[in-house]
Amino acid sequence: MSTVLPIEQTPGFVLRDWSQQQLARVEQALDAWVAPDRAVSESSSEQEDHVLGHAAPAALREAMRYSVLDGGKRLRPLLVLAAREAVRELEPEAMRAALDDAALRAACAVELIHAYSLVHDDMPCMDNDILRRGKPTVHVKYGEAQALLAGDALQALAFEILTPALVPSQPPVYAVQARLCRLLACAAGYEGMAGGQAIDLASTGLRLTEDQLRGMHRLKTGALLQGSVMMGAACLADDAHMAVTAFPALRDYGAALGLAFQVVDDILDVTADSATLGKTAGKDAAQDKPTYVSVLGLENSLAYAQALLDQALQALQRSQLTNTAALRALADMVVNRGS
Ligand code: IPE
Ligand code: IPE
Ligand code: MG
Ligand code: MG
Ligand code: MG
Repeated sequence: MSTVLPIEQTPGFVLRDWSQQQLARVEQALDAWVAPDRAVSESSSEQEDHVLGHAAPAALREAMRYSVLDGGKRLRPLLVLAAREAVRELEPEAMRAALDDAALRAACAVELIHAYSLVHDDMPCMDNDILRRGKPTVHVKYGEAQALLAGDALQALAFEILTPALVPSQPPVYAVQARLCRLLACAAGYEGMAGGQAIDLASTGLRLTEDQLRGMHRLKTGALLQGSVMMGAACLADDAHMAVTAFPALRDYGAALGLAFQVVDDILDVTADSATLGKTAGKDAAQDKPTYVSVLGLENSLAYAQALLDQALQALQRSQLTNTAALRALADMVVNRGS
């Protein structure tokens, strides 16, 4: 049925190898930016990349690190870096180091927003889950107040990371930083993840139409994934590029992939077990959540996920970008993943 080239026709590209390389940088940066307790003597008041004050209560810092480090597929950072890679060729050589740095910051920032959304999503006032990424959820381990604050602080930290002070060896990229902040704020807020989560809570126990369900999923999950793609693509110094064919096409790619991701999350809740998922399987039916499986049935949901993959790959073809191997492979991974 697929009208685009199959994934294996991207010669010489191995997603696992590419991801490992990218994630080595992401994990190191997250570990540094969600810094462990630092002695006062180690810090410098001039050091602009300071992230957490030494006076921050240790338990909050620990809850933040527990939420972010050692776990997760890191799909959102990978999407940022894959989109950056796809547009990198449009950039003059002299700007590349500064924009690569902005992209790494964007990759980490979006993961912090995602981690915060998971911490709050699991709380008793929302989905009331006890297992996440194979570990007890943050409120189970540290209490509800710390979980609430860890989410709050991770959200703030995301924007702090996006707006570092000028690095003397690099040209300033303030316009890019502002653009990244706006994209992330829009994806996370009322018209994005938080708004979608509000619809999710209000929809529990209701029968949604397919249109309503799609709208909810596009916001609660799709927005941050699409935002990840657009943040990677926005790591460009020249605004003129933002209007060219590539950007609407990447937006369509992000929309299709973002929706597909939550369709598959709904499917896995039914078909996978808790050990594989690292979170409690079967929760959606138990809590009477409207999902793709409850609205369309399992077979139709699986077919819809494949159709969305096809849409995502077609959008990439429309972009006319040449360096899209990672974006292609990530779309395939989203739809054909097992956890
Ligand atoms: C889970 O996201 C929450 C949803 C948006 C469905 P992921 O499946 O990306 O969670 P991690 O980051 O891999 O744990
Ligand atoms: C959560 O959706 C989406 C978020 C914004 C965190 P789910 O509630 O389905 O995510 P899981 O299944 O708990 O990971
Ligand atoms: Mg939820
Ligand atoms: Mg949940
Ligand atoms: Mg789910």
